[in-house]
Amino acid sequence: MITNSNWISSPVDIGEVCPIFSKDIKVSKQIKKAELTISATGVYEAIINDKRAGNFILAPGLTSYKTRLQYQTYDVTDMLEDENVLSICLGKGWYRGRISANDKEINRTDGAVIAELVITYTDGSTESVITDNSWSVSTSRILFSDIYDGETYDASAETKELGNAVINNSISKLTLIPQEGEIVKEQEKIKPVSMFITPKGERVIDFGQNIAGYVSIDLTANKGDKIVISHAEVLDSDGNFYNENYRSAKSRLEYICRGGRQVYKPHFTYFGFRYIRLDECPENVSLDNFTAIAIYSDMKRTGYIETGSKKVNKLFENTLWSQKDNFIDIPTDCPQRDERMGWLGDAQVFAKTAIYNYNTKKFFSKWLGDLRAEQRENGSVPDTVPNFWLLSRSSTAWGDAMTVIPWQLYLMYGDKKDLEVNFDAMKRWVDFMTNDSLDKYLWTCADDSDKMWRKHYGDWLALDAPSGSYRGITPDNFIASAFYAYSTDILIKAGKVIGKGMSEYEELHRNIVSTFKKTFTEYSTQTECVLALYFNLTDDKAKTAKQLNDMIVSNGNKLKTGFVGTPYLLYALSENGYAQTAYSLLLQEGYPSWLYEVNHGATTVWEHWDGIRDDGTFWSTDMNSYNHYAYGSVVDWLYSAAGGIKPVEQNSGFKEAVIAPVPDKRLGSINVSLDTAYGTIKSAWHYEGDKVCYEITTPVKATIIINGEEHLVVSGTYYF
Ligand code: BGC
Repeated sequence: MITNSNWISSPVDIGEVCPIFSKDIKVSKQIKKAELTISATGVYEAIINDKRAGNFILAPGLTSYKTRLQYQTYDVTDMLEDENVLSICLGKGWYRGRISANDKEINRTDGAVIAELVITYTDGSTESVITDNSWSVSTSRILFSDIYDGETYDASAETKELGNAVINNSISKLTLIPQEGEIVKEQEKIKPVSMFITPKGERVIDFGQNIAGYVSIDLTANKGDKIVISHAEVLDSDGNFYNENYRSAKSRLEYICRGGRQVYKPHFTYFGFRYIRLDECPENVSLDNFTAIAIYSDMKRTGYIETGSKKVNKLFENTLWSQKDNFIDIPTDCPQRDERMGWLGDAQVFAKTAIYNYNTKKFFSKWLGDLRAEQRENGSVPDTVPNFWLLSRSSTAWGDAMTVIPWQLYLMYGDKKDLEVNFDAMKRWVDFMTNDSLDKYLWTCADDSDKMWRKHYGDWLALDAPSGSYRGITPDNFIASAFYAYSTDILIKAGKVIGKGMSEYEELHRNIVSTFKKTFTEYSTQTECVLALYFNLTDDKAKTAKQLNDMIVSNGNKLKTGFVGTPYLLYALSENGYAQTAYSLLLQEGYPSWLYEVNHGATTVWEHWDGIRDDGTFWSTDMNSYNHYAYGSVVDWLYSAAGGIKPVEQNSGFKEAVIAPVPDKRLGSINVSLDTAYGTIKSAWHYEGDKVCYEITTPVKATIIINGEEHLVVSGTYYF
C-alpha cells in the first residue's frame, strides 16, 4: 500500500535524460521484514545498494493510466544493510512515450515516482521511508528511451546532481492499484546463429527466432567506442536488412562505451526482431558479444501439441512465439512497428488459443479490468485498450472481446468470478449494440463501405477484399448482426451460470436469430458461411456447410477469410461433416495458407497471408507485421478438434471433459496434452495402415467420442 508517500519529480527539466531519485537509508536495528512499494508515471527500475529490487521488466506495467496505475511491492528484507542507498531510475515508458502521445487525458507532463519502504524490526516497531523532497535527484546515463524508438546509453557519461526532488501534487494517487497482472520478465536467452555481410555491405546478426525483447551486449571496448543497432524481422529477397515495416518506430539502440569490459542491455524499451544490423560497432566484435533476451508476461505453459507433420509442429511453435512476443503485459497486435496496441479484435480471435497454450487467467483478468475501465457511458468499448489513440469507434468482432474473453476464461478455468466481475460490462456491450442499430434485432448502420476508416473493420485483411482495401467483401451489417447474436448468446449463458434471470435476453436472442435468418437468406462469401454455421444462424446447416465446402474445394482447397472468418473456418467445416476439407486447409502449403508461411521461413505468425510473396517481394510497408498472432487462432482447433480436448459448459474448468478427436491420415498422428487444475488430459492418435489407434488419458470424468460413439469414463487411460 502507498499511504503517506508523495509523487516526486525532478527539480529541473532534463529533457530526454532519465532521472534517478535517491535516498540514503540507515538501519540501526534488526530487521524482521522490509517491503518496498513503487509506482511511476513511466517505467522504473529500483536499485538498493547496486542490486535490482525484483525482476519486473518495464514496471509498473501497462494499464489504462487515466484510472488505473499499478504499484508493485517487493520483499527487500535481505537486501538491506546498515547503510543503504535506494535509487529509482525513471523512463518514459508507455505512460509518457510516443505511444500514448495522443492521449491528452493522461497527465504526461512530469515524470514522477512514488515509493514507500516499510521496515518492521524484530522488536515489533516499524519505520517508513516515503518519497518526499528529502530525496535527491541526478541524471542517469540513459540519455533517451522510448518504447517505439529505442534507447541511447552513454556508459562514459558523468552523472550530474540536480538537487532535491520536488513534490508533485498534479498527479493523482487515487488511480493507484496493486499489481494485478503477471509480471513481465526476461525469459529465453538466445545466442545468435550467424553474422554476415549483406549484399549492401551491412553487418547483420541473425538470432534465428523472431522475438520481443532486446539484445544484451558484453564486450571489452575503448572509452567512446560506439555501438549502434537497428532491428528487423526479415531480410528482403536480395538478403538485405529490411525494416520498413516498422513504419515510424525507430527501434534503434545506441550505446557509448566506457573503457574496459562492460555489459549492457536496454532498460526501458523493447523491440520485435530476429535480425540486428550493426550500424556502428568496434571492428573486432563476434557472435559471443551478443545475446537476445525475450521478455514477456510470466505465464505458465499448459498446452502441448506434437503431430506427425513437422510443418504443423512448426506452425504451433510459431504461434507460441507470437503469443509470447505479444503478451507483454497486455495482448498486443504486434511487437515491432509504431503500434503495439491492445487491439480487441486480435485478442478476441486469439484468446481461446492463448488460454490453451498458457495459463492466462491473471493476464487477461487484468486487461479486462482496463477494458471495463475504458467502456463508455453508452456501453461501447474502444477498439484498443488502453485507448491511447482515443479511437471513438467501436467495431463488431473487436468489441466482442468484452463477452468472448470472460466466457473463455470461465470455460477453461471454471471460476465464476470471471463472469461476476465482467457481467455488467458484458450486458452493457450487448445493450449498446441493441441501441446503436438502425434495424431492430440486428446491428446495422448506414452503408459507409466507401470509407476507408468506417465504423467496423469488417473481415479485416480477408483475401476477397477489393484491390486497395484491407477489408474483405463480407458486408459489415452481416458480421455485426452475427456477432450481436453470438455475444447475446454468451451473455445469456454467463448470466445463467451466476444465477441471473436471463429471460429478457433469451427472447432478444430468439428475435435476433429469426431476424437474421429472414434478412440474410443467401451467402456469398466463405466468411458468411462460416459465421452462419458457427454461430448457429442458418436453418439448413447441411446446405450451408456444403456451400462452404464447395467454395473452398473449387478454390483449390484455399481460404479467402480474414480476421473474422478464419478463427472458426476449420470448425465450421469439421463440425458439419467436412473434416477432410478442414485438414486440406490446415495442410495446404500453397499461398494462402498457414504452412505457406512456414515454408517461407516464418518463426512467428504473420499478419498477412502474403507477408512475403512467392517471388520474395513484400506486401505493402504500412501494414506488414511478421509477428501478429491473430491467424495463430488455428491452434485452438488442433487442441479441441484434431485432439478433441474440450471443456464442458456445465462443469467448466475441466472438472469434466469431452474428448472427441478428429483424425486424418494425412496428418499421421497427434499428441495433445493440457494441464488443468484437475490434472493433465492427453489425447493421442496415430495411424497404423488405415486403422486409427487412440490413447486417451483423463484425470476426471469424461465423455470420449470416437467415430460418433460415446464412452462415459472415469479417470484413467483408454485405448481405442
Ligand atoms: C492492427 C490490427 C488491428 C487493426 C484494426 C491494425 O493496424 O495491427 O491487427 O486489429 O489495425 O483494424
